[in-house]
Amino acid sequence: MEIDYQLKPKSQRRTEEFVPDKPLPFGVLRTDHMFIMDYKDGEWKNPRIVPYSSVEVAPGAIVLHYGQAIFEGAKAFQHEDGEIYTFRIDKNAKRMNRSAEILCIPKIDEEVQIEAVHALIDVDRLWFPKQEGASLYIRPFIFATQDSLGVHPSATYRFMIILSPSGPYYPQGFTKPIKLLITKRFHRAAPGGTGSAKAAGNYAASLRAGEFAKKFGASQVLYLDVNNQYIEEAGAMNHFHVTSDGTVVIPEFTDTILRSITSESVMDLSGRIGINVKQERVRIDEFVEGVKNGNIIEAGGFGTAAVISPVGEYVFEDGSSLVVGNNEVGEYTKRIYEYYTGIQTGKVEAPQ
Ligand code: COI
Repeated sequence: MEIDYQLKPKSQRRTEEFVPDKPLPFGVLRTDHMFIMDYKDGEWKNPRIVPYSSVEVAPGAIVLHYGQAIFEGAKAFQHEDGEIYTFRIDKNAKRMNRSAEILCIPKIDEEVQIEAVHALIDVDRLWFPKQEGASLYIRPFIFATQDSLGVHPSATYRFMIILSPSGPYYPQGFTKPIKLLITKRFHRAAPGGTGSAKAAGNYAASLRAGEFAKKFGASQVLYLDVNNQYIEEAGAMNHFHVTSDGTVVIPEFTDTILRSITSESVMDLSGRIGINVKQERVRIDEFVEGVKNGNIIEAGGFGTAAVISPVGEYVFEDGSSLVVGNNEVGEYTKRIYEYYTGIQTGKVEAPQ
């Protein structure tokens, strides 16, 4: 791909390493540049890297009215050799195309997506945050730009990538387990819908539930399926629990659950540290019973931004609560976290 580099003058770019003087928030900072490519006349064209700035969108653009937009979330890490490495970015490119199919958006060659990410990181490499636990968060996204009020797939799109030097998604990081609200009041996705796509609309639909969860002191809702029988996911992350025999259980991916790349990676990698991971449909009544009778000893969430976030407590709308693993970070969760983040940061050798 021939990328057109329209970079900021050197004097306006970061010129030295980025050593933050306080803990970095998630997703707030930006780097100097962004990647753009447009879809028009049936093809993706004009790939370019330009200074980070606002973009112009027609007031009648389909994305603004009907939400035809998808995105990805990935991370890059600096290893001891000083190089910056993306983590399983090929999986993100593949998932972007899966989401594209669900949202009737034209796919982008996976190699092109990967090359675009690497080119942008290369230009803004000095923005890599030199802070323990921080990384360069990568946000590729596609939105519908056709100026049309009819409800139909757009004829034109824009693909962009922005970067955000970020700390952990949950400010307490890995050290303090979070709390989730279990409620039958809200659902994230319905069968046959867009739940397995990384569609902007899924996140818009989760906002009200998220605000509701906050009233209970919870970070977010642990969604159930529309019949309130099975555990689905927690919006910004998949859910997992660990049974007393040390098995990690992730709810089976249905068309109402996003296929977390972190979940997939944990499934691919954990056997190497002797941890068994399986997927199955998880009944909420059996989960609650399992926590109460000690059969379930740990729980948490897997997500790119959330990494591996331990969950220590579940609250219900009637005010009752269910504590798992004494509200502490459990042994299995810790082992997986250390192995997984070790591979990301290059401290543990990645399996070939
Ligand atoms: C990610 O984990 O990268 C996501 O895109 C989730 C988002 C809600 C922060």
